[in-house]
Amino acid sequence: MDDRVNITMKPVIDILEERISLALADVTGLGPLPALVKPATDAKFGDYQANGVMAAAKKLKTNPRALAEKLVAQLKLDDICMPPEIAGPGFINLRLKTDFLTGNLLEINADTAHLGISRTENPKTIVVDFSCPNIAKQMHVGHLRSTIIGDSICRILDFQGHKVIRQNHIGDWGTQFGMLIAYLKQANPEVIEDPDSIHIADLEQFYKNAKARCDANEDFAVLSRQEVVALHAGNKETLNVWRHIVDESRSHYQPVYDILDVNLHQANERGESFYADRLSGIVEELKQKGIAVESDGATCVFPEGFTNKQGEPLPFIIQKSDGAFLYATTDLAAIKYRIDELKADKIIYVTDARQKLHFEMLFATARLAGWVHAGVELVHVAFGTVLGENNRPLKTRSGENVKLKELLDEAIQRARAVVEEKNPELAEAKKERIAEAVGVGAVKYADYSNNRTSDYVFSFDKMLAMDGNTAPYMQYAYARVKSIERKAAKKDVDVESELAGITDLNLSEPAELDLAKHLIRYGEIIESAFADCRPNYLTQYLYELAQKFSAFYNACPVLAADKATRPTRLLLCDLTARTIRHGLSELLGIRVVEQM
Ligand code: ARG
Repeated sequence: MDDRVNITMKPVIDILEERISLALADVTGLGPLPALVKPATDAKFGDYQANGVMAAAKKLKTNPRALAEKLVAQLKLDDICMPPEIAGPGFINLRLKTDFLTGNLLEINADTAHLGISRTENPKTIVVDFSCPNIAKQMHVGHLRSTIIGDSICRILDFQGHKVIRQNHIGDWGTQFGMLIAYLKQANPEVIEDPDSIHIADLEQFYKNAKARCDANEDFAVLSRQEVVALHAGNKETLNVWRHIVDESRSHYQPVYDILDVNLHQANERGESFYADRLSGIVEELKQKGIAVESDGATCVFPEGFTNKQGEPLPFIIQKSDGAFLYATTDLAAIKYRIDELKADKIIYVTDARQKLHFEMLFATARLAGWVHAGVELVHVAFGTVLGENNRPLKTRSGENVKLKELLDEAIQRARAVVEEKNPELAEAKKERIAEAVGVGAVKYADYSNNRTSDYVFSFDKMLAMDGNTAPYMQYAYARVKSIERKAAKKDVDVESELAGITDLNLSEPAELDLAKHLIRYGEIIESAFADCRPNYLTQYLYELAQKFSAFYNACPVLAADKATRPTRLLLCDLTARTIRHGLSELLGIRVVEQM
């Protein structure tokens, strides 16, 4: 037992990769070569497979099978694996030793907060730009993805030990305010006198009216532009109304963040207005550096490699001919601020895929300006659209955007029916709590479990189904594991004392081994979910965990097991519950419930 390696803090896949890669360098004399270790696609080939030999053999112009044999003869993995097997043209199949699994599980068990997963050795300052609703409108379903995907990226980074700076780049400075304020002055002067009386529901109506008036009436359009100028020039009265509009909007979106368990607060806001007094300086700097030029009266940057269909260079417009700054200008000021003042090593922008070109041009321009020094990484994490059952972007019957608040309310209401069916005898307050966890959880989980870059169809029926890869299925799986503890108490099994000071396990049944092998992969999954910013890796992992647990629980009695096996099985139950809870509630912000 004592020669068990104490390296489990690192995902086993990384250890295997490292060791095999070194051995490959040794036998080929070619220097470091990737071992290409992957989880095996089929358990009959083992647990992991290394595929790097073929490429190495090609380089050496030698027989891959022979090279694989040489490699395996060199390889020292006996603390982790059974003797490696060579298959096909030179695949190396690896099967974990039970002793190794035991050591891993015990370490995970001992590390209550981190489940045996090491923090990064190289902590970075990472800015995550996400959510970013536009002020004076309620959040709609279009904001869902940025808000929750961004939040889970932050949660994962936090867990890995990075310094995370959440930035809510709210749209609080655009031309819509000119229109809105001009309209209020004309149609609802009482609101100007008493900005406290502004309410978001009215604002939305004002906004629609203002837009209509603007489109119909050129004089009004001129007035609107004057109001923008007044706002941007810091006119007191205009600013006062503006501030109330922003506050009123916040009092609407903050509760949406709260119910979503999204960690965003006013302190995370660096809206467009924050950069207002930096914009002219940005344009000046780019002009001086010879990067920005006049084109048709506007000031533009033409980063290399961006052309329209005719092959003409595409402009990244930073100032219009009337002097107005744009979305692009603000983003340039923000990127500079984040690198220079927030000291970002990495900036992640979470927006829908339609902004792809904007971010490519933004990054190219920032690089041209010399702001992006070596070591700074810029990433656009793009996502697809939420669709209705008709495969078109989700809208209400009357063709409007679906308000996020209403969507979540409906989800909770529908979840309530599920709870009612499953567990009618629960107390009312408990039912409420569960319905909220399940309803909101279902919306979030459905979003996370879809491939981020694809569009997906929003379906209450599917996301609230008790089977399949859904939140209710996962929450139920968790509650089911927890119910074993309750049953134990009734049968006078003292789980705590059986697990206290546990130093050895007795893993032998195939279902136990299968579950154990999946449990130790959690750290590996978190790493890959972060590397690609893809929460669906996590949901997929958790779903498989719940399934493997089910198979284990069906095959292996836990409470009725004999003395020699019961602690092992209790530990498998406990680690499963802890992993599901951690994945759902810590990394995805989805509540778990003890009973469903
Ligand atoms: N408010 C913008 C929108 O609704 C999103 C802002 C994204 N972040 C940024 N730095 N551009 O489209």
